[in-house]
Amino acid sequence: MDSVQVRPMREDDLRSAERASAVTFLEAERSTGRVGGPEAEPRSAVASEQWIDRMRFFLSVDAGGCWVAVDGDEGAAGTVGFAISQNRGRLWFLATYGVLPSHQGRGVGKRLMDAALAHADGRPGIFSSSIHPGATRRYRMAAFSLHPQMQMVGTVDRSTLPAVHGLREGRADDFAWMDELDQELRGAGHGPDHGYLLGTRRLVVSRDGARPGYVYLDDRGRASLLAARHPETAQTLLWEALASSRGSTLVNCITTANEWAIDVGLAARLDIGQEGYIAVRGMPVPAPYLASGHFL
Ligand SMILES: CC(C)(COP(=O)(O)OP(=O)(O)OC[C@H]1O[C@@H](n2cnc3c(N)ncnc32)[C@H](O)[C@@H]1OP(=O)(O)O)[C@@H](O)C(=O)NCCC(=O)NCCS
Repeated sequence: MDSVQVRPMREDDLRSAERASAVTFLEAERSTGRVGGPEAEPRSAVASEQWIDRMRFFLSVDAGGCWVAVDGDEGAAGTVGFAISQNRGRLWFLATYGVLPSHQGRGVGKRLMDAALAHADGRPGIFSSSIHPGATRRYRMAAFSLHPQMQMVGTVDRSTLPAVHGLREGRADDFAWMDELDQELRGAGHGPDHGYLLGTRRLVVSRDGARPGYVYLDDRGRASLLAARHPETAQTLLWEALASSRGSTLVNCITTANEWAIDVGLAARLDIGQEGYIAVRGMPVPAPYLASGHFL
């Protein structure tokens, strides 16, 4: 394994890192998929470009948390692993982490994680973890608590949708109070991530300043990050997401601290599934909160 070097990520690594990520996660999904579950699909060209765009953003905001493993034997296309982490104020998060199947089990993942954790410099940390035994072993050994996550899947029964009041479209001038809410819930604002998310998603916010809350919805109306001071606001925001969903939907990253989301999903006749963990160190599991996989 001496031909593999772990070094800071550069802009010109993005394309080969994306390929390594696509292969790694497709293989991981295939090997951990449940019998009868949906078949793992290769990443689409659009999703590949979105991955590159997101990682370029992380590189521009906090390059010190972005690491790659490169195999010298494989020339310019030689990225075999990546750990993309970020500091926001006093919080560290891991956006994504993987090693090509051909290079797993030989210590590359440990070297990448050690580099990303050194960047955390003792900050509390959070990320969404797969169930891969190598990954969970690494995380627990780094003192993260692994909280099982649920997800809700299915097609919303539209006859269950309640009339939703007290919400409006969000704008960039909402970011200041949103960051304060983030600070309450997870110890740090999303800072520049809000600008990135607003550029790529719809933002819906609570009109009631005493009961603040917000949700970002992706192009299929799925909640990709939701934060609120009170569970009732969180439920209203989630109902808005379910009302705008098209076809089969997904509510992800639900911990037991966030059963308010389970109650909404069940009322909408979605099914409960189980998927991975929220890993936290030095902080409680945020609630009422649904984390985003990449922005936490
Ligand atoms: C998780 C992952 C990045 C680890 O990379 P890796 O190069 O295989 O990791 P390492 O070789 O450094 O091993 C990590 C630790 O897990 C153990 N391990 C590795 N693969 C394992 C497996 N299949 N089963 C059990 N333990 C395993 C290793 O022994 C090592 O522990 P040790 O240092 O105490 O001996 C890699 O396996 C991967 O990309 N998995 C699929 C994608 C994924 O799940 N990513 C994490 C998303 S949160």
